[in-house]
Amino acid sequence: MSDSTSNAIDWEDAYREDGDFDGAPPWNIGEPQPELAALIAAGEVHGTVLDAGCGHAELSLALAARGHTVVGIELTAAAVAAATRAAQDRGLSNATFVQDDITSFTGFDGRFDTIIDSTLFHSLPVEGRDGYQQSVHRAAAPGARYYILVFAKGAFPAEAQHTPNEVDEAELRAAVGKYWEIDEVRPAFIHANMPEGPDAPMQLPPHDHDDQGRMKMPAFLLTAHRAD
Ligand SMILES: C[S@@+](CC[C@H](N)C(=O)[O-])C[C@H]1O[C@@H](n2cnc3c(N)ncnc32)[C@H](O)[C@@H]1O
Repeated sequence: MSDSTSNAIDWEDAYREDGDFDGAPPWNIGEPQPELAALIAAGEVHGTVLDAGCGHAELSLALAARGHTVVGIELTAAAVAAATRAAQDRGLSNATFVQDDITSFTGFDGRFDTIIDSTLFHSLPVEGRDGYQQSVHRAAAPGARYYILVFAKGAFPAEAQHTPNEVDEAELRAAVGKYWEIDEVRPAFIHANMPEGPDAPMQLPPHDHDDQGRMKMPAFLLTAHRAD
């Protein structure tokens, strides 16, 4: 079982060239998660955007390229540096990145029209969820939309150690619904370059793959808005 009271992994290590993932963590797929790319294509993302736990921030960069002002808030210095470099390389001065803890950050009260969580929720310790919800709610403008793409239970083997804090629908609704008006929770997929084969660190359930060979892992996509 994963230890829900601590970080599933060492995030600084995850981004290091000499870290456990050799500088290529499974969630770095070089583009936004397809479920979130579909939201963008459908015109669901409005105004100034917060990319919560942005990592290397392909989501922020894609949104900035479409003209949105985007702020990525991210715990690890290495990821903030990589995202900042990528924005500079792509000439995207409307994307900025801040190193901070999403469970307690301040300084953006009422600022964001859209908040997107691309696989952050399950990356937090369970006891960090409430602080996270409070912080992003404070940073949301009235009527702001909030999207969360999060692993569903069954993505990882139940007995595996150091896995993300995957959720069932009821616990996701309970954590988010305390602060937000939930519009929808639906089944979705997270696409990831998971290590596979006999030498992989863990044997995963038999999930399907996309046409680029990435694993399609069970997830939820939650949509909510700030009512007050
Ligand atoms: C699974 S990765 C997803 C990264 C990115 N959103 C994506 O879709 O590629 C989770 C990210 O959340 C960051 N993170 C974990 N805990 C955090 C916290 N308390 N505050 C801010 N970021 C955090 C990690 O460093 C990591 O970059």
